[in-house]
Amino acid sequence: MFKTYDTLEQATHAQPRVTALLACQNNLMPASWHMPISKSPFRYAVAVREENYTHQLIQEHKSFTLNFLPFEHFETVNLMGKLHGDMDDKLAQSNLHVESEDRFKNVLLSASDFIYECEVCDTYKNGDHTIFIADVVKIHVNEKESQEPMLFSGRGKYATVGKTFISKKGV
Ligand SMILES: Cc1cc2nc3c(=O)[nH]c(=O)nc-3n(C[C@H](O)[C@H](O)[C@H](O)COP(=O)(O)O)c2cc1C
Repeated sequence: MFKTYDTLEQATHAQPRVTALLACQNNLMPASWHMPISKSPFRYAVAVREENYTHQLIQEHKSFTLNFLPFEHFETVNLMGKLHGDMDDKLAQSNLHVESEDRFKNVLLSASDFIYECEVCDTYKNGDHTIFIADVVKIHVNEKESQEPMLFSGRGKYATVGKTFISKKGV
C-alpha cells in the first residue's frame, strides 16, 4: 500500500542525501541538492534557491568550495541553514576552523572529510532553484577521513550510514 501525494511539501518521506557546506567566500550554506554530472572532466551540479544569499555570491564570484563534513557536525550544519550571510557572519558562528582558501578566496574547512574546489562553467534556471554547473578543479581528501558521511533527510532529520558492504564482484 502506498500513500500518494501531489507535492513534495505534502509527502513527508525521508530523502537521505549527502550534505555538504557550500562555501562562497566565507559564507557557509548547507547544500543537499547536488550531484556529479561528468566524470572526465569532473563536473558537479548544485541547486541553489534564488532567495539565498549564496545565489548572489555564486553569480558574482563564479566559484565555491563544497566541504563534506562528517556526521558529527550536524548541529553546526543545521544552524548554518537557519542563518543568512547578508545578515550574519556565519563562519564566525560556526566555530569551524579554516584550513586555507582557494584562488577566489572561498574557504576550505579543516573538519571536512573531503573538499571540492568548484569553478562555475554553466548555469541552468528551472523551477525555484538555479543549477550551477561547475568544473571540480581540485579535490582535497583528509587523511583522517571519517567513514560517517552526513545524510540529511529533511525536516531537521540527520543520519549517517549504518553498515558498509563490499561487493564480491568489485566495482
Ligand atoms: C541540511 C540542509 C540542506 C540544504 N540544502 C539546500 C540546497 O541544496 N540548496 C539550497 O538552495 N538551500 C539548501 N538549504 C537551505 C539553505 O542552506 C538555507 O536557506 C541557508 O540559510 C541559506 O544561507 P545563505 O542565505 O547565507 O545563502 C539546506 C538547508 C539545510 C539545513
